[in-house]
Amino acid sequence: MDIRACVFDAYGTLFDVNGPARHLAEEIGDKWPAFSQTWRDKQLQYTWLRSLMGAYKDFREVTADALDFAMEANAIIDPDLRVRLLDLYNRIDAYPDAAETLGKLKASGRKTAILSNGCTPMLSSGVAASGLGELLDDVISVDAIRVNKPHPHVYELVEERLAVQPEHVLFVSSNAWDAHAASHFGFNVIWLNRSGQPDERLPGTFAARGRELADVARFLAA
Ligand code: LAC
Repeated sequence: MDIRACVFDAYGTLFDVNGPARHLAEEIGDKWPAFSQTWRDKQLQYTWLRSLMGAYKDFREVTADALDFAMEANAIIDPDLRVRLLDLYNRIDAYPDAAETLGKLKASGRKTAILSNGCTPMLSSGVAASGLGELLDDVISVDAIRVNKPHPHVYELVEERLAVQPEHVLFVSSNAWDAHAASHFGFNVIWLNRSGQPDERLPGTFAARGRELADVARFLAA
């Protein structure tokens, strides 16, 4: 395997999508993990459904729509909390091993990039807030093509932007559906199965599986 570029999914892979609700857990109460999960589930569903409908909306708007659903489903009526959750999402935290892992991959001479359904302003503020900017060669958003992963057009953006062919790409995602789609497209893929979930019954196989970002550097060093 000749890996020349390591491309990461953003939300859930480099960025901790449960961070915003965890920060405000005292206000949300014991239900915060379920609330955060509903928010995330709806956010993903809306990206897929809008892509199928040909009714693209950017990730910031979809994230707000999904939050509105999650708040209503949990009987939370609190406009100020809504504003603060969205603000936290905009400057989301990276996982603790993100910077060290990206640093090691760059030091190995490989390109590093994000490929995300996130929109450019959200990705830029997340990358800046988590201090990952210097460690990434590119941040690729679906903005330009107005369709979300897992549509193959999104994975095609990597070759256009990084000038690296799919067989030389290692794609990393903690989202199993994204990992399967990226493999089906032709990338080498590591699925970071953070929560120990069962395998999805979808096309595509993995070069490796891991639990945390540090596993990517371990895989390439082996
Ligand atoms: C992303 C979402 C899907 O960053 O996690 O693309």
